[in-house]
Amino acid sequence: MNKTIVITGASSGIGKATAQLFHAKGWNVAATMRNPQAEKDLKPDDRLLLVRLDVQDQASIAEALRSVLQRFPRIDVWLNNAGYGAYGPLEAGSDEEIRRQYDVNFFGVIDCIKAILPHFKANKAGLIINISSIGGLLTLPLFGLYNSSKWALEGLSEGLWYDLQPLGIGVKVVEPGAIKTDFSGRSLDAFDLSNFPEYNAYYATISNRIRDPKMVKNFSSPDMVARVIYKACTDGSKRLRYLAGSDAKQFWTLRRWLGAPIQMSLVKRYFKL
Ligand SMILES: NC(=O)c1ccc[n+]([C@@H]2O[C@H](COP(=O)([O-])OP(=O)(O)OC[C@H]3O[C@@H](n4cnc5c(N)ncnc54)[C@H](OP(=O)(O)O)[C@@H]3O)[C@@H](O)[C@H]2O)c1
Repeated sequence: MNKTIVITGASSGIGKATAQLFHAKGWNVAATMRNPQAEKDLKPDDRLLLVRLDVQDQASIAEALRSVLQRFPRIDVWLNNAGYGAYGPLEAGSDEEIRRQYDVNFFGVIDCIKAILPHFKANKAGLIINISSIGGLLTLPLFGLYNSSKWALEGLSEGLWYDLQPLGIGVKVVEPGAIKTDFSGRSLDAFDLSNFPEYNAYYATISNRIRDPKMVKNFSSPDMVARVIYKACTDGSKRLRYLAGSDAKQFWTLRRWLGAPIQMSLVKRYFKL
């Protein structure tokens, strides 16, 4: 019997690349997204289902789960991938922007996990994979709010790793470095600085560095992350964390071996702060 994966945020980037890879590997794929009617690349067939799911809408999560289980007999993997990045000094973010960051990146994941757990418990099997970030293990300037949502996801995942193992359910986290996707375009929610000019020079220094074409050309592909996700699904291990990308591995090596204070001073030097 084919295995089945459900993917949130499969309309682009890492989610779409993962849907394509798992489909090519013979899995059943439920590619969920906010606007499936707009999807052009993923073509529905007997193993690929497009389903509407907005992680901010609990009813849509329940409805998506019902549709997937009508089509496929069981779900083996639930991939919490949907997410985006708030960017800027904290006080420039409106209450709505700040809460939305956590609604999508953190509470949306909790709602999906609570929805799928009864199915996994009934099967005494299942795997939850959460897409975190290297920014779930350390923090970059102006990304504090986004990174904190991924730190929260890391802590949640580590706790669930203990709690769900006795029920036969696995939990894994994939931590990509910088990836060439829509993340730095439409998925970047840049705060409005007009009332906070005191940050202008600092903001410009960091933003120019982040957009530096020499840096952007070294970003990894979403296909690489999809392959790491595939490995996490198929290696049969109980391993919790999978770094994805050489930059993520380098950052983590620096943090681990030199300690946070030195790694943070290297980040300051890198951004010329
Ligand atoms: N790219 C990177 O450098 C990088 C690095 C580390 C971690 N990540 C993480 O990787 C994940 C995927 O990002 P990506 O790089 O592939 O960016 P992306 O191409 O912009 O994809 C983001 C996806 O999230 C979806 N999404 C946003 N809000 C949603 C909501 N309320 N409900 C359902 N789906 C929603 C988007 O759907 P719509 O099409 O409907 O907007 C889109 O499919 C995110 O969790 C991100 O934090 C990315």
